[in-house]
Amino acid sequence: MSYENNTKLLNDPDFKVVYRDFEERLIEKIQKYTISNAKDLYPRLKTKHYLAHGSYGLCPDVLLNCYREWSLDIEADPAVFYYRVLYPYLIRSIRVLADFINTKPTNVFLVPNVEIGIASVLQNYSGRVCCFDLSYQAVVNQLEKFDLVKIPLPALGKEAILDTLREFLQNNTVKLGIFEHTTSPTGIVMPIKEIIEICKSFGVDTLIDGAHGIGMISLDFQELKPDYYTSNFHKWMSSPRGCAFLYVDPKHTVRPLISSWGYKLGPWNEFIWQGTNDYSAYLAIPLCIKLFKQLNYIERNNSLARWTGNILSRAWNTKTLTNDYASMVTLTLPKNLKADFDLHDALYDRGIQVPVFVFRNVRMMRVSIHVYNNKNDVVVLGRTVLELYGYPSDYPGYSALLEAKL
Ligand SMILES: Cc1ncc(COP(=O)(O)O)c(C=O)c1O
Repeated sequence: MSYENNTKLLNDPDFKVVYRDFEERLIEKIQKYTISNAKDLYPRLKTKHYLAHGSYGLCPDVLLNCYREWSLDIEADPAVFYYRVLYPYLIRSIRVLADFINTKPTNVFLVPNVEIGIASVLQNYSGRVCCFDLSYQAVVNQLEKFDLVKIPLPALGKEAILDTLREFLQNNTVKLGIFEHTTSPTGIVMPIKEIIEICKSFGVDTLIDGAHGIGMISLDFQELKPDYYTSNFHKWMSSPRGCAFLYVDPKHTVRPLISSWGYKLGPWNEFIWQGTNDYSAYLAIPLCIKLFKQLNYIERNNSLARWTGNILSRAWNTKTLTNDYASMVTLTLPKNLKADFDLHDALYDRGIQVPVFVFRNVRMMRVSIHVYNNKNDVVVLGRTVLELYGYPSDYPGYSALLEAKL
């Protein structure tokens, strides 16, 4: 096996998913987990109420062990590993992933993170590109070298977003639009299917930043049909870090950032080898998808996040930023009745990790919900914010929280 004949294996109709012995053992281990005991998958978690999954994810031990086993396997004989073992197992990861997101394996490439996925696509473009004015700044920084138009989004409802985009495209010519599936830090789930359709009708290509896509929202690429979509496995799929994918519509050709051994052998052979590296996070994808299917958490996380939005906004007498959210809900905070202080740090001192930030001049909090979170985390957060902000014990918000938990 070498980088030169990957495509054959990629299309082989007789290809079978085979697990290594250590994977079989880990698969056996995950059988006992359901949502109700899923917190036990994360024995390393020290912070009592970790409501910040959206920041860097959180990897369960079972997936870290899979990652480690692959890394250790390299040292049995690195030459054998890189020449013979690596490629078929990378292709296994891609085939399992492609099946999971309903596309062909030839349309999917593994990359270390979303920013690299985005940079790979941008290499092919020049001229005018657009994004919304609430896009993730690290990505916007990549766009600064283009003729970039940031489309202002004063209103954040679905129809307002679509109307704004339509009106913009009626009056402007752009080649590529970069849009987030779920915005950060604000957690808005954008109407991405409609955005893609509108862009198509104006002849504009779409690059979807799905950093918070896979694992938070079900993905079906036969249905979604973007030009490009990149998503982190290490966020909502909870995989070891350094694992993301880039989907490319077959009508386009994207090259990786590094022209290495696969150079001029087609994108497939180019992407699969990006220099000597530890590719173990990619190799853990099949187990990661197995764990996802075992816990089947998208609907549960999203409905607990909705419960969170409802109960906190009621207890604090505040508002969620939008109704269009999935596993991350952003809320305005209650009025602080005390002298100003750093709310994030004060919460952290009390065992709660949650991002607090300013969006459009208003202080907000983004609460993430994953399998290891429960209603108690949310009630503790709600109560602690009221206490820190100086609300007396007869303030009705406290009883709203107590009643909701029952
Ligand atoms: C919307 C969005 N885009 C891009 C990124 C960058 O992801 P990464 O740092 O994994 O490349 C993030 C990270 O949080 C994000 O939230």
